Amino acid sequence: MLFKLRFAKPYIINKLETASILSGIPKKEIWGWNVDAWRYPFVNSKEVAKTLDRRQMKILEIGAGKYSQVAYEFDKTYSNITISYFDEASKAEIQSKFETIKRDYKLLSNYNISKIDVTKISGKYDVIILKSVLGGIFREKSFQNAEKLCKNLVNKNLNNGGILVTIDNGKSIFERLMANFGARKNGWHYILINELNMATEQIGFGFFSFVSVSIRLGKFGNWVEKLMYLMDLIMYHLIKSHQTVICSVFVCQNDSIKKRK
Ligand SMILES: C[S@@+](CC[C@H](N)C(=O)[O-])C[C@H]1O[C@@H](n2cnc3c(N)ncnc32)[C@H](O)[C@@H]1O
Repeated sequence: MLFKLRFAKPYIINKLETASILSGIPKKEIWGWNVDAWRYPFVNSKEVAKTLDRRQMKILEIGAGKYSQVAYEFDKTYSNITISYFDEASKAEIQSKFETIKRDYKLLSNYNISKIDVTKISGKYDVIILKSVLGGIFREKSFQNAEKLCKNLVNKNLNNGGILVTIDNGKSIFERLMANFGARKNGWHYILINELNMATEQIGFGFFSFVSVSIRLGKFGNWVEKLMYLMDLIMYHLIKSHQTVICSVFVCQNDSIKKRK
């Protein structure tokens, strides 16, 4: 028993921290809520891992929010990173979060914060990130147009070998119970893994992490989310559908989407 615990504990801690040393900035600052569950598919993507080994890229995050700016995960790549917002309300919060991060951690990349509409992007990038953006732009049935937007971004705005990473809220098994709460009642589209299936790589994760509580309940909420994540690590091996977070990576090859192997 003692033997089992000695070996199980580092494994669990290791899983909880899933490569949190990717950058010096704490993952809570980067991901905001349900940190480990949202981060799991991202850090387990082979295409993302390959890109994190590159240097001096041009990176753009679309629709960043006050709690979460995934672009900081790429800080160690010594890149030019644009963190963009769409609604004016987020501008000051993203700017002040940047000032705090700049003060508290040694940043390795250059940053620029600007307003960008995903439907009107100009220029080419090596990485484009959208976290929890598509489901709000393409609500309910209009989500079928989301893939068209991804295709356009790959064709027009990615350099060869570049990646478009979209991390979306998955449709959990509890979706019907939750239909009248939060963003769900406003028609937000929660995706299944077979949507956006033109992606070069797709990774789903999570079973219980379908709600976030850390922002409302502080430290207690953090522990609840950690517990949900631990249960997710088990459920993930048992149930392969209705994951709560889905990361889709589109790789650009000769100005179009590289096909899945
Ligand atoms: C649920 S929030 C997600 C915010 C942040 N990415 C996160 O995960 O916390 C959806 C975001 O999509 C942005 N958004 C909506 N329409 C957009 C558009 N046309 N172009 C760029 N961003 C847009 C909103 O401003 C908002 O910040």
